[in-house]
Amino acid sequence: DQLITDIDSFQSSNKDEIEQFRIKYNGKKGILNDLFAQFKEVPNEQKKEFGQKTNAVKQAFNAKMESLQVAEISTKFINKEDLTRPGFPLELGSRHPINLVKNRIIEIFNSIGFAVADGPEIEDDWHNFSALNLPEYHPARDMQDTFFIETDPDILLRTHTSSVQIRYMENNKPPIRILSPGRVFRNEAVSSRSHCIFHQIEGLYIDEKVSFADLKQTLEYFTTALFGKSKIRLRPSYFPFTEPSAEVDVYWGLNSETDYRITKGTGWLEIMGCGMVDPAVLTNVNIDPEQYSGYAFGMGIERIVMLLHQMGDIRMFFENDKRMLEQFKGL
Ligand code: PHE
Repeated sequence: DQLITDIDSFQSSNKDEIEQFRIKYNGKKGILNDLFAQFKEVPNEQKKEFGQKTNAVKQAFNAKMESLQVAEISTKFINKEDLTRPGFPLELGSRHPINLVKNRIIEIFNSIGFAVADGPEIEDDWHNFSALNLPEYHPARDMQDTFFIETDPDILLRTHTSSVQIRYMENNKPPIRILSPGRVFRNEAVSSRSHCIFHQIEGLYIDEKVSFADLKQTLEYFTTALFGKSKIRLRPSYFPFTEPSAEVDVYWGLNSETDYRITKGTGWLEIMGCGMVDPAVLTNVNIDPEQYSGYAFGMGIERIVMLLHQMGDIRMFFENDKRMLEQFKGL
């Protein structure tokens, strides 16, 4: 009982004194250890009472130590720290503009029934080229300079996400309505306008009686949703995997003299390629071109971001400069 009174009445804010107090009771040769050692020698009939008392001492000691520590921390703050000082700012990250715009595009096409399909970045020749009506030595292969990884069999970094569409058509029956976003790679010199790595989103719709008018309606729906009030026009073009093929230009309806989003000249800006899936492609993936038809389109995401956010250099997307990334906070 005396020990408990001693413990309870101990008071100090001095570090050394507290440490001495601790050693006195709880050190190797301290009172508590001593009591536990004595316990063995206590006659059996007194063990219960002795044990209870010893535990009470230990509890009193623990409680005292805890209150001493709390007291120490609060004196430290009250005496030395200015509690009204603002805290250190926590920096929040932001989504990358590529992802922001990619998600927006996916959202728009989701709302009209397109699902997202994924595929590998390392591809084989069949899925990236041959199945897309680009057989070996086809001159149009030069349209997309390729990084090869192995030559036999040809393993390469995909040059477009059309490869995902081939994989999807091989494994699914029409109707098919998919979007394939992802990174693509082309062996091109890096400049402000083009990069050897960029991102694409391609779309594919295969069903009975799909027409070019369906394609145009879908594109108009998309560009209006993304750019707001705008006009598009389709210019005849060539892709091996679509026939007929077209390039899509968008017109913002702004003054091309003063708005630098619009390239010099006409005010029309090319944003994607598209066309009706070539029957030869459908045959390659065992879809009957007599029964089914479809359209496909593909766009570079960087280009769209640059257009939407008035950015002039594609290399910015890969530099992770915080000053650029921070401008997309909260979007
Ligand atoms: N795959 C083409 C490219 O990367 C884009 C495209 C997709 C064109 C679908 C037409 C149809 O350039």
